[in-house]
Amino acid sequence: MKKEEILQILREVHHPGKSDRDIVDLGMVQEVNIEEGKVSVTLAFSKRRDPLAEYLIGSTRASLIRHLGAGVESEVKTVVVEEVKKKSGIEALGMEQLINVRHIIGVASGKGGVGKSTVAVNLACALARLGYRVGLADADVYGPSIPTMTHTEGESPMAEEHEGMELILPLEKYGVKWMSIGYFAQKGQALIWRGPMACNALKQMVLQVKWEDLDFLLIDMPPGTGDIHISLVQDIPMEGAVIVTTPQAVALADVEKGVDMFRNPSVNRPIFGLVENMAWFTPEEHPDEKYYIFGKDGGKKMAAELGVELLASIPLVQSVRECADKGEPAALGSGPDAMAFIELATRLAEKMG
Ligand SMILES: Nc1ncnc2c1ncn2[C@@H]1O[C@H](COP(=O)(O)OP(=O)(O)O)[C@@H](O)[C@H]1O
Ligand SMILES: [Mg+2]
Repeated sequence: MKKEEILQILREVHHPGKSDRDIVDLGMVQEVNIEEGKVSVTLAFSKRRDPLAEYLIGSTRASLIRHLGAGVESEVKTVVVEEVKKKSGIEALGMEQLINVRHIIGVASGKGGVGKSTVAVNLACALARLGYRVGLADADVYGPSIPTMTHTEGESPMAEEHEGMELILPLEKYGVKWMSIGYFAQKGQALIWRGPMACNALKQMVLQVKWEDLDFLLIDMPPGTGDIHISLVQDIPMEGAVIVTTPQAVALADVEKGVDMFRNPSVNRPIFGLVENMAWFTPEEHPDEKYYIFGKDGGKKMAAELGVELLASIPLVQSVRECADKGEPAALGSGPDAMAFIELATRLAEKMG
């Protein structure tokens, strides 16, 4: 039995007084002690008389017994810790700005160039068209594309002081709140980030932004499946992810990596579905024609193989790229591409309830 496994079990215990976040996420698990035939967990409370203490202790014990069985003795201890002193800078970033966000969804892909950002931007606009309050955080520190795709490049977000902390105000356009690391770089200047710096920048793009009330906060994740991703999913209460792919057979291995990352025990978040981008080619002047240049039903087969739902198939249409380059997302229009994004948004919204 490993500490990781115990923490996984403890993630089942949610704090009803704190947006239903789990006790591991909330940093309440102070100690996990594993001995032969015995597990002891210490929960930290910041108040001496927390009204939910009994409930949380009981739920923790019940989860342990349920998973470990009666053969393992389990014990739940508690300690009262002083209110943590205010930390400074990035360390102080908490989840406060996400409290009124209903769903936080990562948009990920196994590799770059499959249209992840295009899907993220258009999904955001489509959800807004359906009447939802939407935000999109561009967490792709290596190639932020939201400023170009929304024609907001060159804009500088404002900051606001809040309880001794600077909060960044998102830009608003097309009914969506946008935030990107790209707003903080000079045009044409390459962004060079190394591990920890990249992680901090990502966290800031999500945690230090005044999102206010949102139904959906989408996160355009950096391509790949490395440490940055794992850290991002762990530090941000992402509910789950949507994975973008193209239909070719060669993409399967990459998608599999993306799926595995979310199913990895230390991440363990659901995948809400697969989006097959560039599923077929439709010429601008013949919107009813479909050419399956990468083969038909690739996305469907991939989804079945990986045990995830195929949420939508998006056509390869010249206007999608042209709109992206112009900064006017295709989902705002009325073509078959716009309809595909609206369908994706409808499916996802239904699924999330
Ligand atoms: N469905 C589509 N139809 C036409 N062009 C597309 C489509 N999806 C993406 N593109 C284009 O493909 C390129 C890569 O897309 P992008 O969203 O930047 O990929 P990623 O974020 O995965 O690296 C962009 O030029 C984009 O405009
Ligand atoms: Mg991108």
